[in-house]
Amino acid sequence: MTGLLHVESSPAGDRSDSTRVGRVFVDSWRKSHTKQPVATLNLWDTPLPELDSAVLAARAAVETGEKPVGDGAAIWSRLQELARPLLSADRLLISAPMWNFGIPYRLKHYIDCVTQPTLTYRGSPAEGFEGLIPGRPAALILSRGGSYGAGTDREPFDFQRRYLLAWLGFLGFRPVETILVEPVATDPEAVTRADHEARQVAARF
Ligand SMILES: Cc1cc2nc3c(=O)[nH]c(=O)nc-3n(C[C@H](O)[C@H](O)[C@H](O)COP(=O)(O)O)c2cc1C
Repeated sequence: MTGLLHVESSPAGDRSDSTRVGRVFVDSWRKSHTKQPVATLNLWDTPLPELDSAVLAARAAVETGEKPVGDGAAIWSRLQELARPLLSADRLLISAPMWNFGIPYRLKHYIDCVTQPTLTYRGSPAEGFEGLIPGRPAALILSRGGSYGAGTDREPFDFQRRYLLAWLGFLGFRPVETILVEPVATDPEAVTRADHEARQVAARF
C-alpha cells in the first residue's frame, strides 16, 4: 500500500497554485509519516485511453457478469492499471484548479476512466451503489481565481468542489477535507494562507 497518493491535475507545472500547495501538504505529511511511501500521479503526464465504443462494450460485458473479450480485454486491463494506485493508497490528495466553474477536463477524463463497475464501485440503479474504496481519508486542494466560499453569492457556481465531493463519496472516501486556495486573481496572500492550512490539515491527516 502507498501511504499517500497525490493526484496533480493542473497543467501549469511548478507555476501551479494548486500543485504548489499540494506539495506543501505532501512535505508536511511526510515529516510525520517518514516510513510511508508517497506516490504522485500527474494527470498531464499520464496517457489516458479514449472512452470509445470498445470501452463501453467492455463495461457492458462487466456489468452483466461477463469477461470483456478481444480489444475490450486489453482496454479493461488498462483501466484496471489506472485504478490500481487509487485502490492501493491509504490516503488520497487531489490538487485541482477551477476551470469554468468545474474541474479541468483531464481530471474528468481520469475520473471517467477509473470509475468503473467492479473496479471502484458495484451495484446498479435498481439495487443501489456501493463504493469499493470505503472509509479512506481524502483531501482536496482547490485553487480558483475568484471566491466561491460557503455563504458567498458565488457558492452556487462552485461545481468543482461539489462534484469532487460527490465523486469521492460515491467511491466511499471519507472523511474528506477541503483546502481552498482563493481568490488567487486578486489576493496575493491566498497561496500563503492555503500553505498554512495545508500544513495544519496534513498534520492530522
Ligand atoms: C481554462 C481556465 C478556466 C478558469 N476558470 C475559472 C473559473 O471558472 N473561476 C475562477 O475563479 N477561476 C478560473 N480560472 C482561474 C484558475 O482557477 C486559477 O488561476 C487557479 O489558481 C489555477 O490553478 P493552477 O495554478 O493550479 O493551475 C480559470 C483558469 C483557466 C486556465
